[in-house]
Amino acid sequence: MATIFSGVQPTGFPTLGNYLGAFKHFVKYQEEHDCYFCVVNQHAITVPQDKLELRENSRKLAAFYLAIGIDPDKSTLFIQSEVPAHTKLGWMLQCISYIGELERMTQFKDKSKKRDAVSSGLLTYPPLMAADILLYGTDIVPVGDDQKQHLELTRDLAERFNNQYNDIFTVPEVHIAKVGARIMSLVEPTKKMSKSDENANSVISMLDDEKTIRKKIKRSTTDSESLVKYDETNKPGVSNLLTIYSLCSGKSIEQLVKEYDGKGYGDFKDGVADAVVDQLIPIQERYFELLESETLDDVLDHGAEKAARVANKMLAKAERAMGLERKRR
Ligand code: TYM
Repeated sequence: MATIFSGVQPTGFPTLGNYLGAFKHFVKYQEEHDCYFCVVNQHAITVPQDKLELRENSRKLAAFYLAIGIDPDKSTLFIQSEVPAHTKLGWMLQCISYIGELERMTQFKDKSKKRDAVSSGLLTYPPLMAADILLYGTDIVPVGDDQKQHLELTRDLAERFNNQYNDIFTVPEVHIAKVGARIMSLVEPTKKMSKSDENANSVISMLDDEKTIRKKIKRSTTDSESLVKYDETNKPGVSNLLTIYSLCSGKSIEQLVKEYDGKGYGDFKDGVADAVVDQLIPIQERYFELLESETLDDVLDHGAEKAARVANKMLAKAERAMGLERKRR
C-alpha cells in the first residue's frame, strides 16, 4: 500500500483554491492508501502570527479536514508541532541544504519581498517540509502546482542524504491534479487565488456564506467577448470559472462549454455560483458540528500518537546514519 502525505498551513481559513487543488483529492486517496494529513503549524510561524489566532486556526483546519471527509479510521490526522520528530529531522536536513538552493525557491523570493525583516525560518522552510514528507516513507505527495519546486528540493535532499549517509529515505513522487492545480484570483485571473490577497473579492473562503459566494462570482473578472470558452491565455477569467464549475459540478469543461453555447456570462456565472454553493454548504454544516464536538481532540491525540510512532522510527534511522546516537552498535 503506497503512503501519502500532505500538509496545509493553518494561516487563515482554507480557500476554494486550497480545496480544489489539494483537499478534494485527499479524500479519494484514503480509500486505498496509508494517508497522513498534517496541520503544519510550524510552517505558519515562519511569518509572524497572533498566538490565539494560530491556535484557533489549527483546530479549525483540523475540523475542516474531517468535514471534507477525511476519516480518522482510515487516515492519520495530526498537528505538526505535536510530533517533535519533524523539527529534529528538519534540522538535520537543513544541515545538508545549501543556502543558494534555498534562496532560489520562488515562494521564499515572493514572501520575503513583501516584508522588511525576513526570518531565517522562511529560508529554511523547505528542509522542514522535506522532513514532514520523508519521515513517513512517503511515496506520493498530492499538492497544488505552487508546491512543485519544494517537492523537487525534497527529492534532491532525500537523494543527497541517501548517497552521503545511508539509503533510508523513499524519494517521493509529486501528484498535481490535471484540472484545478492552480485556481486563480477572481479579480486578477492571471494571479493564483491566495489567502493573503488584500482584495477579499479575489478569494472564496470555504466559510463564505451563499450570498457572499454569489456576489464574488457575479463580480469576477471575465472579458468583453460574451463567449464561454476555455482559453487560458486570452480568456483567463472565463477559463478559471470553467475549471471551478467543472470541479464543483463533476461535469467536464467540454460539457459546460456546450451547455452555455449562445448564453451570456450572466447565466454562466449563476451556474458557477450554484455549483460552488452546492459543494460548500454541506461541508460548512459538517464543519460547524465538528468544531463543537469532543471528537476533534480525540482524533488529534490519536493521530499524533500514531504519527510519532512511525516518525520516530525513521528519525532513529536518520540519526544513526548521521552519527547522532550515543551507543556504539
Ligand atoms: P498551503 O498551506 O499554502 O496550501 C495548501 C495546499 O493548497 C494548494 N493550493 C492551491 N491549489 C490550487 N489553486 C490554488 N490557488 C492554491 N493555493 C494553494 C497548495 O499547493 C497546497 O497543496 N508548503 C505547503 C504546506 C506543507 C506541505 C508539507 C505540503 C508543509 N509541509 C508536506 C505537502 C507536504 C503550503 O504552504 O501549502
